[in-house]
Amino acid sequence: MRLIRTTDYNDMSRKVANIISAQVILKPKSSLGLATGSTPIGAYQQLVRWYEKGDVDFSEVCTYNLDEYYGLLPSDPHSYRHFMDTNFFDHINIRRENTFVPDGANLDREAECARYDALLQAVGHLDLQLLGIGRNGHIGFNEPGEVFSKGTHCVDLSQSTIEANSRLFGSIDDVPRRAYSMGVQAIMNARMILLAASGEDKAQAVHDMIFGPVTPRCTASILQLHTNCVVVADRDALSLCPQA
Ligand code: GLP
Repeated sequence: MRLIRTTDYNDMSRKVANIISAQVILKPKSSLGLATGSTPIGAYQQLVRWYEKGDVDFSEVCTYNLDEYYGLLPSDPHSYRHFMDTNFFDHINIRRENTFVPDGANLDREAECARYDALLQAVGHLDLQLLGIGRNGHIGFNEPGEVFSKGTHCVDLSQSTIEANSRLFGSIDDVPRRAYSMGVQAIMNARMILLAASGEDKAQAVHDMIFGPVTPRCTASILQLHTNCVVVADRDALSLCPQA
């Protein structure tokens, strides 16, 4: 695991965007695993600016999102499909048919998980998987538990995640209780993992991810076993980690 220390959110965002743009420049047909949440928004904005300046071209890129709320239509403003469209895809030259997000509107869980896994299996290995981290160490919506989940699955969200994500909904009662999530195996299959973390509320999770035991109780700890994992974190997110 390689750690890149950054000063603050903006610094983190630029470095994350730099790594993603390098990937796309080096391999225009890249398959990118993408993440939602507040953490990657700054990196997406930076990539849009570089696209507008002609520095990076997404016309041949394919993207696969980590997760989606169960029961939300793609058009729902709280859906992750809507998040990706409005924060990123609508502003770059990616082909819409090359962007994949689990379909929250498909209530047949078995069918939807099988459909998404088939898509991922057809790719084989994502070139780069971007991740944020939950306060409880989750990646995607792979919540802490007794085992690492392999394939795409429908998760019962933990209370801590429901509370953390309620800031984006009208009230906590509006937060869906379930979500589809890519499994840990598909994440670990990526050729490169790029995890971004910012803010003091992530400090414990970041510490446990890097220095704790590899355990499904902190899902992100499995990234210690990946051979090409880069963590870009700001000072606040690293506040519980040793300085060296
Ligand atoms: C959400 C998402 C994750 C994200 C995490 C952190 O629940 N499912 O993919 O990484 O929580 O979100 P944020 O970046 O808003 O702190």
